[in-house]
This record gives sequence, C-alpha cells and structure tokens, in this order.
Amino acid sequence: MENISDATKQFIDLRRHMWMAGIEVDLRRLIWQIAVTGKYISSKIQESNRKLAGFENIYGEEQLALDRSSDEIIKQQLAFSGFVRQYASEEQDSIIQVGKGGEKYIVTADPLDGSSLVDTNLAIGTIIGIHRESILTGGDKSLVAAMYVTYGPLITMIYSAGNGSHEFVLNREGEYVLSEENITLGERGNIYSIGGLRKDWSQEHLNYIRRLEKEGYKLRYSGGFVPDINQILIKRGGVFTYPALKGTPNGKLRLIFELQPMAFLMEQAGGMATDGRQSILSIKPETLDQRCPIYIGSKYEVETAKLFLEGNTTTI
Ligand code: AHG
Ligand code: MN
Ligand code: MN
Repeated sequence: MENISDATKQFIDLRRHMWMAGIEVDLRRLIWQIAVTGKYISSKIQESNRKLAGFENIYGEEQLALDRSSDEIIKQQLAFSGFVRQYASEEQDSIIQVGKGGEKYIVTADPLDGSSLVDTNLAIGTIIGIHRESILTGGDKSLVAAMYVTYGPLITMIYSAGNGSHEFVLNREGEYVLSEENITLGERGNIYSIGGLRKDWSQEHLNYIRRLEKEGYKLRYSGGFVPDINQILIKRGGVFTYPALKGTPNGKLRLIFELQPMAFLMEQAGGMATDGRQSILSIKPETLDQRCPIYIGSKYEVETAKLFLEGNTTTI
C-alpha cells in the first residue's frame, strides 16, 4: 500500500487500514474484536491497581487474578463471535471449543504477559496468534495473523495479517489510529535484551553476548517480553534473547503463546526469529506449553548468534 503521508495517518484507524490492505472480512473483524478486548484488559489493570487504594499486601493475589481475568475477557469476546472455533492460552490446560466448530480461525493467547510487573508500573502486554489450521502443525503452516497490545504510557497495538507489521495507538476517543506503517528493520541495531541468569548461560551464548558488548550494544531488558520486543520493532533493530540455560535447555518462553506470534510480526518487519539454529515458525510444537530458546530481532544479530551457537566462531 502506498506510504500514507503523516498528515493523513491520523485518520487511518485500524478497521480502515485492514480494509485498505484487502484483508478478508472475518479476519478483519476478528483482529478488530481482539484490539477492542485490549481496551477492556487495560481497564481491568487500572481497576486492579490496589496501590491506589493502599491494599498492597493483598496486591500479590490481585496480580495473579489479572492473568485469569484477562484470559476470561478474551475467551468471552471470542466465544460465538462467529469467526473462532477454538481458543488456547497460557491460562488454559487444553485447547477449548469456543464456537460451533465450523468457524475459520483458532486463537492463541498469552492474555497478560509480564503480570508480575504490574506493581512496578512497568509496561506489560497481551500476545495473540491467529491460526487457520491446527496450532500443533507449526507456525509457518497455521499462523495467518498475529498481534500484541502494549499497556504502557500509551496503549499501542501492532498487528500483521501477512501485509507487513503496523503500529496503532489508542487515542483519547478510544480509536486505534495508525502511528507506524510497514515497520521495517535495518540490517542491524544497537540494543540487546538478554534474559536468563549469566551464570546459567552456555559458553557459546556467553561468547555471543560478549561479541555484542564489544560492538557497543546497549542493554535494554525490562523483564516484560512485549515491551522488550516492541522496542526492537520501534527502534528498527537489535536483538532479544532468552537462551537455553544450564538446567532448562528449552529456556523459559512458550513457543505457541509467546514466540510464534512475535516471530510472525518480526519476520513481517524484515527481521528473524530462531531458537538459535532453526526458524521459530518452522518448529512443529510437540506440546501446547512447549518452551523454546529464542533469538529474535534484526538479521545481523540473529545470524551472528547462529555462528556462535554452532561453534562456527569463537571470535569475540
Ligand atoms: P508471563 O508473565 O506471561 O509468565 O511471561 C513472563 C516472561 C516474559 O514476559 C519475560 O520475557 C520473562 O518472563 C522474564 O523472565 P525473567 O524474570 O526470568 O527475566
Ligand atoms: Mn508470557
Ligand atoms: Mn502470561
């Protein structure tokens, strides 16, 4: 789609953008419904903020409830929407039926990623994958769209239905308006977002991180996967990694609920996402809650990780 001038961008809302991109009507409606759900979850976060009422001691229980209440909000919004036959989320033990059975799509959700950060007022988010086929066939076969909502100083939403990755911001009128269209990463960036404890990293991973540090990368790690990924898309480059660790060879992050949607969005923005060797979207999940090491961001950083992890270089 021709680049829209800044002057007119403010009038492109999410629905109009998807219509102009020629996205099929049920998928447009589904993405729109989920974006609206982000507004409900945001008000739930506000409501539950016991700091305002001074109930910090019970706040911990409130935080945990946020995961479940966010999950309930999404599930209710999708149930009998007419577009979704199944729903799977981090908060559910199995894939659940939410339609009559013939609907086109299956939705996966990390309803609230980073909920343990709510009391610190750091940004958190909702991660969504939209699949046509079974979610256990592999992201490159089943995923047709992905999106996330970031609950930060602004509420922003990035989506792709295979038409590039685009950011929208929720304005005062409650509309998602286009803020960054066709986000495209450079060959490399200058930020690195590195998870896991240094003492638990493999030597190959440690050498890779040392290489980035030698090249002057700046550390940007909030502990919230959504804002940590979002900064790489908005700054047009860099790398996020949560690697295999001594004791947890599959790392921490979940393939279906967290990594596949972010890999889809990052690839649509010209970036890459691997487990250190193979593309995240090519991995066929064995189980619903399968975890996986992740290297995601601009090409140079993800390809350099591969060199170190495969032992093809040890040059720091
Ligand atoms: P969730 O809140 O959905 O369980 O996800 C938390 C994840 C993710 O947000 C982040 O990248 C990671 O936990 C941070 O882990 P550490 O606290 O080990 O850094
Ligand atoms: Mn998560
Ligand atoms: Mn979560």
